[in-house]
Amino acid sequence: MDATHDRRAIGVLTSGGDAPGMNAAIRAITKVAASRGVDVVGVLGGYTGLREGALRPLTHRVREGDGERVVPDAEIDALASLGGTVLGSARELRFHTREGRAPAIARLSADGPLRGLIVIGGNGSLAGAHALAGECEVPIVGIPASIDNDVGCSASAIGVDTALNTIVAACDKICDTARAHRRAFVVEVMGRDCGYLAMAGAIAAGADAVLFREQGRDEESIVASVEHAIRRGFSQARAKQRVLILKAEGVSIPCTKLVRMVEERLGNDLPGVDVRATVLGHLVRGGNPSFQDRMIAGRLGLAAVATVLAGTTDVMLGWQGPKGGEATDDPAVSRYPLSLVLSESAAIVDGSSAVTRRRVQLMEQVEGVLGL
Ligand code: F6P
Repeated sequence: MDATHDRRAIGVLTSGGDAPGMNAAIRAITKVAASRGVDVVGVLGGYTGLREGALRPLTHRVREGDGERVVPDAEIDALASLGGTVLGSARELRFHTREGRAPAIARLSADGPLRGLIVIGGNGSLAGAHALAGECEVPIVGIPASIDNDVGCSASAIGVDTALNTIVAACDKICDTARAHRRAFVVEVMGRDCGYLAMAGAIAAGADAVLFREQGRDEESIVASVEHAIRRGFSQARAKQRVLILKAEGVSIPCTKLVRMVEERLGNDLPGVDVRATVLGHLVRGGNPSFQDRMIAGRLGLAAVATVLAGTTDVMLGWQGPKGGEATDDPAVSRYPLSLVLSESAAIVDGSSAVTRRRVQLMEQVEGVLGL
């Protein structure tokens, strides 16, 4: 059956923590599929919606000449600039068991309404996609989207660039007020299992020090390093107007507790110097996607549609991923088996991946420079 005679749609869903650029990927998938005569259906609310059959068409058919043409719904054009996800998202815990996935599997049979499913999300979502791929009859294809940058086989994921831009803009603003009062700020950024946002954000924001879980420091050494950065920054020799420390969410000591402990150690040694804490939290996950995230989303979306139409399943499209991926028409995009992606993601998080080792080594070199 060719693409135009098969009336089944490609399904697309967003799952897990949203990431800026997810909507841009939905737009790209919808427009590319429509251009190939294929309808697209959005699944509402991630895997929960797939279980419940919450589907919303994103294309419709119009008569043209003797035949009909698939066109994207009018609001699709406006999607690329929106943060979040118009399809909604969820962390669906029932998807961890085959029993919990059963209603979704039933919807993905060869004679069902969907000819394939594109899952846009992070590691939990891709694990769900991998499980589904082994159980259903249509292609399941993943696209990495997570601000944390912890998805294996992809140098970046949708949302990372925007999150970093948000972090840098927030730190710039915090530094304005910090300089006015000669204050030190500990700024916490998202990244539960992976400190990439803190690392890359610290360099770009010109921080004096950075704390991330992968350093493996104990509480005493964390407190000591913050104290050291503040003493050094405000020393007579350096006479800084502000000290900025970026802390990854994954460093278990809470920001306010850390600041209190540092203040106790500083005592009255630095008169007039205050230490404050700011937790950026979900602010980092929202906002209009950057050019880079829209561009990555568009190119991964294009390759994902081609992959579904080629009948390939249980794969993820990676952006500038490691050697060994299967080439696509786009030199920056390769296909990787989801099993490999998930094992590499686990290694990124537990520190055994070459990616994590490289990041940590780079940061060790940078640390000596940050506080100067
Ligand atoms: O999406 C990843 C992430 O933003 C992590 O950085 C963070 O720890 C987590 O999601 C927060 O999840 P939730 O929004 O469910 O609290």
